[in-house]
Amino acid sequence: MQGYLIGRIEAYRSGRFDYPQMTKIAGGPSQQEIANVSGWYSGIEMDVLAFD
Ligand code: HEM
Repeated sequence: MQGYLIGRIEAYRSGRFDYPQMTKIAGGPSQQEIANVSGWYSGIEMDVLAFD
């Protein structure tokens, strides 16, 4: 999951993907900060429950 998130943020950062809000957000942090935030979100455990 961390690698997926880094890849998606890098895609906005490089202009390969463009969505105004995320392209702006992705341009700010350093490579280390992108790795850190991606690692943090990857560490969240959650259950996905089906509706009854
Ligand atoms: C810690 C800050 C943030 C991180 C790490 C982050 C990360 C991401 C990632 C990884 C995606 C791609 C998801 C995917 O396609 O699977 C994404 C999409 C998106 N984010 Fe963020 N985001 C952040 C903050 C924000 C903020 C503040 C906004 C709005 C003001 C925002 C708006 C969006 C939108 C609209 C998309 C979908 C864009 C599209 O369809 O290509 N994000 N974000």
